[in-house]
Amino acid sequence: MSFISSLPSSNAMTDEEFRLFKTLVYDECGIHLKPEKKDFMQNRVNQRMRATGIKSYYRYYKLITGDGADFKAELLALLDALTINETSFYRNKPQLDLFQNIALPELLHRKRAKNDFSLKIWSAGCSMGQEPYTIAMILNDVMTDIKGWKVSILASDLSLTVLEAAQQGIYPKEKMDGIDENSARKYFVEKDGNFQVKEDLKRLITFDFHNLMYDNGFSNIDVVFCRNVLIYFDMQTQKEVIERFHQCLAPKGYLFLGHTETLQGVNDNFVFIHKDRGTVYQKK
Ligand SMILES: C[S@@+](CC[C@H](N)C(=O)[O-])C[C@H]1O[C@@H](n2cnc3c(N)ncnc32)[C@H](O)[C@@H]1O
Repeated sequence: MSFISSLPSSNAMTDEEFRLFKTLVYDECGIHLKPEKKDFMQNRVNQRMRATGIKSYYRYYKLITGDGADFKAELLALLDALTINETSFYRNKPQLDLFQNIALPELLHRKRAKNDFSLKIWSAGCSMGQEPYTIAMILNDVMTDIKGWKVSILASDLSLTVLEAAQQGIYPKEKMDGIDENSARKYFVEKDGNFQVKEDLKRLITFDFHNLMYDNGFSNIDVVFCRNVLIYFDMQTQKEVIERFHQCLAPKGYLFLGHTETLQGVNDNFVFIHKDRGTVYQKK
């Protein structure tokens, strides 16, 4: 029996309670939950209520909107529980081919000509780390002179749970789809049936908490990957987030979005580039 159907009816979330939580979640992290997501919300709020020993929605809402010592931590735990963290290595391969074969060579060429050997890449909404580790593997494969560069991959997420997993960099075999044997040997150590990212690759990446609703002071970023995150935001929030990306990108910097995400009607300060089913936006 599912948890929802085993709930006493008195514990079902009312429309008004749903509206309160939905508004709070939207204000805090931009995630826009439609009415059909009420069961999902109820389920996740109930999870957190069980963890905190609170029995009423009202009291739980008071806790996460109050000014008690634990309110921020509990609010973060609820937001964490509401995030969708699906990801994989080499997700959207045609787009990563475009990164590897077109955007990256153009960027490196431009930087070498200026004697600028620094490279800053941001994986925004990095989930369990497969995206930043994929980027690091591509850089390592392509840049034969990588040791002469100052490479930083900033990987951020709202969910502390996924950030911790990303930082550990340990993946079961079934999550290794997309990685060929060569790369598995080169970049991972096999341990008790799992695969652990080698330190050489890990040290290129800094994992950190960041809520995309806020500016983080980043500047001169060469490439932003923010894939499969905007889909959870409404148009207004997308506009604000994209404007912040535009500001933190270096001139001619690249922005990679998920394959269902578009800047059409959101921001026209980027040039759209597509090749062989891969797409990217470049700052004008
Ligand atoms: C579906 S995953 C995408 C992971 C990866 N970018 C990919 O394409 O495989 C979306 C991630 O965005 C994060 N996220 C959602 N809202 C966020 C926000 N306001 N700030 C930062 N990260 C957020 C979620 O925690 C989740 O890990």
